[in-house]
Amino acid sequence: MEFQTASEQEMEAVGARLARGLMPGLVIHLSGPLGAGKTTLVRGLLRSLGWSGLVKSPTYTLVETYDLGDRVIHHFDLYRLSDPEELEFIGLRDYLDGHSICLIEWAERGVGLLPEPDLGVEIAFRGDGREIRCESGTEAGRRLLSQMGTSRS
Ligand SMILES: Nc1ncnc2c1ncn2[C@@H]1O[C@H](COP(=O)(O)OP(=O)(O)O)[C@@H](O)[C@H]1O
Ligand SMILES: [Mg+2]
Repeated sequence: MEFQTASEQEMEAVGARLARGLMPGLVIHLSGPLGAGKTTLVRGLLRSLGWSGLVKSPTYTLVETYDLGDRVIHHFDLYRLSDPEELEFIGLRDYLDGHSICLIEWAERGVGLLPEPDLGVEIAFRGDGREIRCESGTEAGRRLLSQMGTSRS
């Protein structure tokens, strides 16, 4: 599934679409260069689920956790990970508890330790905007994609 976005607001709207079918335990990888809009998409997703606080880029903390009451979302940014082993130190296994939802930027830096994604979201610069490609890796990811495609706003 593909989307074109011309603005930060449109990117947030794609995040909101992604939020529709978000089920417990899903692992989503967000890839694309610095400044592509990965964190912007996560912000749109969280806002659409009712999060009204700040959404900070977890560049230095590696992970930020959002407790939305009915679900918990962990937002990782592994850009500064120098060694995948660091993931052991931050207690990666506790985050991947099968219930929490994990959104992971720069997942390639944690290769070997991270689970295969249910959904891969790849963002690329396209003119002044961004092109977003979503690809499912599991049955749960396919269900998520089909929810994204519905016309419900
Ligand atoms: N279509 C667009 N989608 C997302 N971000 C955009 C878009 N156009 C411009 N921007 C800007 O690009 C930047 C994206 O930053 P960010 O989401 O932090 O990227 P990343 O997390 O991929 O490094 C923001 O400053 C945002 O305002
Ligand atoms: Mg980011």
